[in-house]
Amino acid sequence: MNNVRVCLVVARAENGVIGRSGSLPWKLRDDLAHFKSLTLGAPVIMGRRTWESLPRRPLPGRTNIIMTRDWTYAAEEARVYSSLTPALQAARAIARRQCKSDVFIIGGAHVYETALPMADCIHLTEVAARPSGDVLMPPFDENEFEEVHRTEFPANERNDHAFSIRELVRRESNGNNLQ
Ligand SMILES: NC(=O)c1ccc[n+]([C@@H]2O[C@H](COP(=O)([O-])OP(=O)(O)OC[C@H]3O[C@@H](n4cnc5c(N)ncnc54)[C@H](OP(=O)(O)O)[C@@H]3O)[C@@H](O)[C@H]2O)c1
Repeated sequence: MNNVRVCLVVARAENGVIGRSGSLPWKLRDDLAHFKSLTLGAPVIMGRRTWESLPRRPLPGRTNIIMTRDWTYAAEEARVYSSLTPALQAARAIARRQCKSDVFIIGGAHVYETALPMADCIHLTEVAARPSGDVLMPPFDENEFEEVHRTEFPANERNDHAFSIRELVRRESNGNNLQ
């Protein structure tokens, strides 16, 4: 498979909040189920803080790739890289071997910020809430993307808030998917 896309996966509240005190500020079980089915079998790239926030490490059934500037950082059952370019190169090679079309950038804010210019698509969960939090999604120009799919979920016993899952695809290739 030649064209492996770079896809961000993020859940963002109306006020931009994506994290609080090292974890998620909500319980959205249907969004977690979507995250799992989307990423299962594919490489996932994350920042060191997101890695350390995972309740279960590594995320099972996926090649876990961590970014850190700490050259001594070691993590069992994960690959560690000190910048995005080699992390993406490795992730793409793994995806090709596994016949996967996408690699996933799964946060947090620092890693999203670095990866946004290279994003071919964004799986954006929009949470109908304005929670307090200490980590915000970096802004991006939604006009650069086209919504190709959207599903609505109500608040209920599985989900603290109503939310939409939107799939946004970059309108024009930025050339990064040609590697
Ligand atoms: N709502 C969502 O969809 C979502 C998704 C993921 C995470 N989160 C939340 O977001 C929070 C964590 O996000 P965060 O922004 O604080 O941290 P993060 O992006 O997960 O991790 C930051 C760390 O990653 C490393 N890093 C980041 N960019 C790098 C680069 N370009 N090159 C090399 N290393 C790099 C650095 O590690 P070192 O300090 O070790 O050098 C940096 O301190 C948590 O609350 C988590 O629950 C939310």
